[in-house]
Amino acid sequence: MRLLWSVLFSQILAVVTAQRSPISLDIISGAPSQGQSNVQLTSSTLGFDAPKTLPINGSSFDWWYFDVVSEDLDYSLVLVFFAATANGLWKGLPELPASVWVDGQISAPDGPAHNFIADSNDLIVMTMANGSSGTLNGTGWGWAGLPDMSYYELIIDDPEAGVQGTVTFESTTPAQFPCASITAPGEQSFILGSAPFGWANALPDANANVDVVINGTRIKFSGAGYHDKNWGPSAVGTVVKSWYWGHARLGPLVVVWFDVISPDGSEHVSSYVSRNSEVLTASCSNMTVRATGANSTWPPVRGTGAPGGFHISASVEGEGQLEIDVKHKTLLTADPDVTIYRWTGSVSGGFGNGTTWTGPALYEMFAF
Ligand SMILES: *[C@@H]1O[C@H](CO)[C@@H](O)[C@H](O)[C@H]1NC(C)=O
Ligand SMILES: *[C@@H]1O[C@H](CO)[C@@H](O)[C@H](O)[C@H]1NC(C)=O
Ligand SMILES: *[C@@H]1O[C@H](CO)[C@@H](O)[C@H](O)[C@H]1NC(C)=O
Ligand SMILES: *[C@@H]1O[C@H](CO)[C@@H](O)[C@H](O)[C@H]1NC(C)=O
Ligand SMILES: *[C@@H]1O[C@H](CO)[C@@H](O)[C@H](O)[C@H]1NC(C)=O
Ligand SMILES: *[C@@H]1O[C@H](CO)[C@@H](O)[C@H](O)[C@H]1NC(C)=O
Ligand SMILES: *[C@@H]1O[C@H](CO)[C@@H](O)[C@H](O)[C@H]1NC(C)=O
Repeated sequence: MRLLWSVLFSQILAVVTAQRSPISLDIISGAPSQGQSNVQLTSSTLGFDAPKTLPINGSSFDWWYFDVVSEDLDYSLVLVFFAATANGLWKGLPELPASVWVDGQISAPDGPAHNFIADSNDLIVMTMANGSSGTLNGTGWGWAGLPDMSYYELIIDDPEAGVQGTVTFESTTPAQFPCASITAPGEQSFILGSAPFGWANALPDANANVDVVINGTRIKFSGAGYHDKNWGPSAVGTVVKSWYWGHARLGPLVVVWFDVISPDGSEHVSSYVSRNSEVLTASCSNMTVRATGANSTWPPVRGTGAPGGFHISASVEGEGQLEIDVKHKTLLTADPDVTIYRWTGSVSGGFGNGTTWTGPALYEMFAF
């Protein structure tokens, strides 16, 4: 598998060399800096999925998030590479000696979820054009992305933890900024809300294939994949108060919702809807996300219980009003103390002209 890692890298390098893509290399130390972090919150022509907070200090954070949910909702995978101290994130995280680490979970229909964690002295990230590739030095956990972000792969080779395998992601739809598609011209803001909470969504949807062996048992599934990153200069709870976030497939549509309450109490949304790879909406307006059923008080605050479901309403120019109901299938993560919930579930809905679709979703509610 370590060989596979290098083969993949040499393939990427071949693409980079052929296209003369610029490369940058960042070594993010597992020992946080005592100084100030430099935080990038406006786009440039390169480095969409690159590190955005350098160096990490005792309160700043930068993470790369990946997930996959199977069409039948029976299987899921969530994997997050963090560059942050526990102080920069939230309570209830494991005490680790280093501030670069990976946290993962795979759930299958038979038996409890498998949880993984590994930390390192360094997270080495290579960025070629817009795609990034990273490896947690010495752990066997890493990811690799092509320069144009059309393809990503997670490479796992951690025999000590009993996990080996790959997860591939083939992009199905263009990347987005909080308020625009990646094809929007000029500099774009990465800020979601009224405080410096950064977000870059490289893969709003991908055809994903998971093939991992956990202590001798093979888990293999395909489904809807997703990848984004978040970052900020100070502890996450100081740049965002709460969020409802999720991604779904709905017939020919891909939908990503991100509804945040900023620390000043203002509400901000990012709305993304695409159909057969064509972006219909990528904006920070024209969407409402609300919890439904039990515990649906809005806005969510620390201590709000798990809601019964969600409803999303998005106005899509030229198409009408997209109304979507989200129904839970599996609760993947629940920490009522910090108010962190993550589910897989099914979405159903449509534009209100008679055609309705259903499909898989993976989504969260966080409140700090
Ligand atoms: C980390 O750097 C940011 C500047 O980006 C600064 O606002 C923050 O106070 C720093 N945190 C610590 C613990 O030094
Ligand atoms: C990289 O992303 C920027 C937007 O941030 C875009 O303008 C540029 O065309 C992209 N480059 C490549 C090689 O995809
Ligand atoms: C990666 O870790 C090895 C030891 O496992 C060390 O020799 C090497 O210097 C590290 N590389 C980086 C870039 O930190
Ligand atoms: C694999 O087995 C070992 C030894 O029983 C155990 O410590 C480890 O947690 C297992 N790994 C997973 C991912 O379940
Ligand atoms: C979408 O939002 C923009 C900006 O807030 C507004 O001007 C426009 O009327 C909205 N479109 C629809 C269809 O509601
Ligand atoms: C609502 O939240 C409370 C905790 O505040 C929890 O005990 C209860 O199970 C939740 N209700 C539902 C339907 O999830
Ligand atoms: C409803 O709208 C969808 C999406 O625009 C379209 O594909 C479908 O043909 C429409 N159905 C009817 C019955 O008008």
